[in-house]
Amino acid sequence: MSQTPLSLPQQRKMGQTSRKDAWWLQPLVVFLGLSAFIIYANWAAFQASNYEHGAYLSPMYSPLLFEAPTQAAIKAETLGADAHMSHHSWFGAWPSALQPSWVPGWMLSPALIILIFPAGFRLTCYYYRGAYYKAFWADPINCAVGEPRNSFRGENFWPLLIQNIHRYFFYAAAVYIFILAYDAWVALWHAPAGTNLSYNEAAATGQLEFGLGVGTLVLTLNVILLGGYTFGCHCARHFAGGKHDHLSKVPTGKKAYECVSCLNRNHMKWAWTSLIWVGFTDFYIRMCAMGIWSDWRLF
Ligand code: FES
Repeated sequence: MSQTPLSLPQQRKMGQTSRKDAWWLQPLVVFLGLSAFIIYANWAAFQASNYEHGAYLSPMYSPLLFEAPTQAAIKAETLGADAHMSHHSWFGAWPSALQPSWVPGWMLSPALIILIFPAGFRLTCYYYRGAYYKAFWADPINCAVGEPRNSFRGENFWPLLIQNIHRYFFYAAAVYIFILAYDAWVALWHAPAGTNLSYNEAAATGQLEFGLGVGTLVLTLNVILLGGYTFGCHCARHFAGGKHDHLSKVPTGKKAYECVSCLNRNHMKWAWTSLIWVGFTDFYIRMCAMGIWSDWRLF
């Protein structure tokens, strides 16, 4: 019987494949979707302004440790002496010692510090890694499609070894979920209707009133989607119960593991819906803060 020598792995040229389906569509959508989000998130982070509107605080600026000098200047210009410190700020104004005159306002954006952790969490996520390795550097561009290299390096070398940091980003991201849940709660308390009190003024004098606005719903859905993504993380499975050799002997761990696994089954959907919604939440609050949109109070 004649034999044809076949070398493994089979070498294909870039893009060469026997697949008949639209294999290029998924990496293309991922490339466009992630690129659009990265561009918007960077733009929003460098604005250092219009990140809050009354009771609403953009998730890209939460937790707001210090009020951005740019935002404080805008408030002072529009409200004059009536401008109160942002109620959302944990430690008040940006310390003047950390605000040399030669530093431009955009460099003092609170988002630049805050976004390190959510961005690191997403960047090292097991799902996103598979998606952007395909979409951004064709490694491979899709399964069974030729790629522009002949060797496989895996993630065993620098700089990709850094991906192992993911579990630590998970711990930080989990803390953020509780902070964002608190923001959704704060979004239920507004300046009293029918008065001239600004939100910060009403908050400073304890005159906030309970109410539900469209922004409250936007912020609440945001924390639900981000929670579904974060607590469906593969590291959360380990944390919840996966570390046990005999899970059946740890009933609470088993239950928690099952809950996390339930979220994990749709991890890709949680990843995309939460990414889109966090961008929209910032956009919604920004539009309201700029006076382009009006927030509709349901009661
Ligand atoms: S694996 Fe996706 S967030 Fe951890």
